[in-house]
Amino acid sequence: MTMTSSSMCYLNGEYLPLDEAKVSVLDRGFIFGDGVYEVIPVFNNKLFRINEHLTRLQNSLDAIKVSNPNTNNMWCDILNKLVSQHVDSELSVYIQVTRGVAPRDHAFPDAGNTTVFIMANPMQAVATDVIENGIEAITLDDIRWQFCNIKAISLLPNILLKQQAVEKGATEAILIRDGNVSEGTASNAFIVKNGVITTPPKTSMLLPGITRDLVVELAHQHNLPCEEKAITESELRLADEIWLTSSTKDIVAVTQLDKQQIGNRKPGEIYRKMLGLFQDFKKQLMTQ
Ligand code: PDD
Repeated sequence: MTMTSSSMCYLNGEYLPLDEAKVSVLDRGFIFGDGVYEVIPVFNNKLFRINEHLTRLQNSLDAIKVSNPNTNNMWCDILNKLVSQHVDSELSVYIQVTRGVAPRDHAFPDAGNTTVFIMANPMQAVATDVIENGIEAITLDDIRWQFCNIKAISLLPNILLKQQAVEKGATEAILIRDGNVSEGTASNAFIVKNGVITTPPKTSMLLPGITRDLVVELAHQHNLPCEEKAITESELRLADEIWLTSSTKDIVAVTQLDKQQIGNRKPGEIYRKMLGLFQDFKKQLMTQ
C-alpha cells in the first residue's frame, strides 16, 4: 500500500496531513478501545453505498451510547471533501469515532466530546491470482463477545484469530460458534451447495456487512437461489463453493479450507457469476 506522509486526513473539524494528526493519550479510544468505526470503499471518486455505511455507523454509535456528532449530510460533506484531496480514485475511507478525551474511568464521562478521525488510503486491487485461484482459509473457534454486530474498534479477538490464520499460511479464519459459521475475522461468509447460495442471518453474532447485503440483493435480482440461514460446520466443509465478502476485498473464493480442497480447488461457476454481477454493479455506479 502506498501511503505517503502527505496523505490528508480529518481530525475533529480539521483537514491535515496524516503525520501531523495527534490525539491525546487520554482519548478513550486509546485507553479503552471505546469507539466504533466504518470502512467505506470509494470507486471512481464516489463513496460506495454511503447511506448503508452511515446507517450502520449510527447503529454502532447507538449501541455504545455515543451521540452521532454529525448529520448524514455533514458526514457526506466531510467525506467528499477528504476524497477530493486524494489523487487516487479508488480509496478505502476509514472513519473512527471514540468517546473522546477524559480522565481514565471505566464509567462514561459526564460530558463527552467525541473524537472523529477519518483517513483515506489507496484501495489495493484484489490480485488476479486471488480472483483466479481463490484463497486458503482455516476454521477457528469464535472466541469473540456477544455483540459482533457493533463495528467496535476493540478488535483484539479478531486480530489474534487472523494472526493464527496468517501463521498457518492462510489468508483468513472462518469462525465457528456453537457448531455454526458466524463470519470471517474481517469478512462475511457464504457457501454454495447444489446451486443454492447461503449466508448466515444477521444476528448479533456477526457484522451486518454492506458487501454481504449487496451480494444477497444481487442474487435475488438475478434469480440466483439465495437463503439467509445458519450454516453448520459440516455444511461448510461439504460446500461446493465458499466465498468471503468485505468492502476492501469485494468477493473472494476460498478454495482450500483447513488444507482440504473446496470444489475442484478453483473458484466455482456461481462465484464467477456473482463477481461479474458485482463488478457490473460497480461499473454502473461509475458511469452515473
Ligand atoms: N471489515 N465482518 C467483520 C468482522 C468485518 O470486520 C468486516 C469488514 C466484514 C465485512 O463488512 P463490509 O462488507 O461492510 O466491509 C464482516 C473491514 C473491511 C475492516 O475492518 O477493515
